[in-house]
Amino acid sequence: MTSTPSIFRTVAEMRAAVALWRGQGEKIALIPTMGALHAGHLSLVEASRAKGCRRVIVSIFVNPTQFAANEDFGAYPRTFDADVEKLAEIGADACFAPQPQDMYPPGFCTKIIPGGPALAGLEDRFRPDHFSGVAQVVAKLLNQAQADCAFFGEKDFQQLAVIKQMAGDLDIPTKIHGVPTLREPDGLALSSRNIYLSAQERQQAVLLSQILSATAKFLRAGENIAETCAGAAKKITAGGFALDYFEARNAETLAPIATLAQGPARLLAAARLGNTRLIDNIAV
Ligand code: PAJ
Repeated sequence: MTSTPSIFRTVAEMRAAVALWRGQGEKIALIPTMGALHAGHLSLVEASRAKGCRRVIVSIFVNPTQFAANEDFGAYPRTFDADVEKLAEIGADACFAPQPQDMYPPGFCTKIIPGGPALAGLEDRFRPDHFSGVAQVVAKLLNQAQADCAFFGEKDFQQLAVIKQMAGDLDIPTKIHGVPTLREPDGLALSSRNIYLSAQERQQAVLLSQILSATAKFLRAGENIAETCAGAAKKITAGGFALDYFEARNAETLAPIATLAQGPARLLAAARLGNTRLIDNIAV
């Protein structure tokens, strides 16, 4: 199905369409993204269709408040025309593409300080203000769209937990759904940042998902969590990565676990190859 999605530049335009669709009894999905769309993003559109969403809005906004000063906000890939073409191919109904000055006009001063999963000691250890920026923009996008459902990837597992917690705590009525990670045939999780990898780094990058799935298997077979994760960390470092963390956590609370009895368990990892930071996770 190829049909050009409507492009909404303002909240008013988006809300008018949402009101019309709701009046027709149609279930509406919002899929927040920062653009540079790849098949992983598009799998969220498909997941929303599978949940019965008749109308799908994909937002594209590179949110400045979730990047630290030393991160890649300026360099983050911006490929709007190609993104809209992909949305047309997948049959998304609309793209919401707000301007930074409309999202954060002069005088904007409200922050969200997420707790719980945002302080789990994973991404937050390396990106201290990141989830505050994510929670802020996602709260805005959810309020702006007033969709029935919103879809987020398990690829960013801690982010998904933070958003679920925030939406619940703030009584945001949009239902939050998680969607499994889409991977390349060799196992590398699709990410907009994979384009930063050199050809050689791309070959090395597969090790992260390989070690995650091998470790999950060992743990399911009864191996000790602390020892197996320490061994996995060594292998990732030996493969040329600078490792930020490799941890087993409770998939719901993100609290550390020493045995699978404290599960459901999830393995989460972040590691850098050259200037590119990769994150991935897997269920045990
Ligand atoms: P972005 O990195 O563009 O990702 C948008 C959504 O796509 C997120 O929910 C992310 O988890 C999901 N996603 C990315 N790669 C995926 C993959 N390989 N398989 C499945 N889903 C995948 O995450 C953000 O943007 C931002 O933080 C945002 C939530 C939009 C707030 O600015």
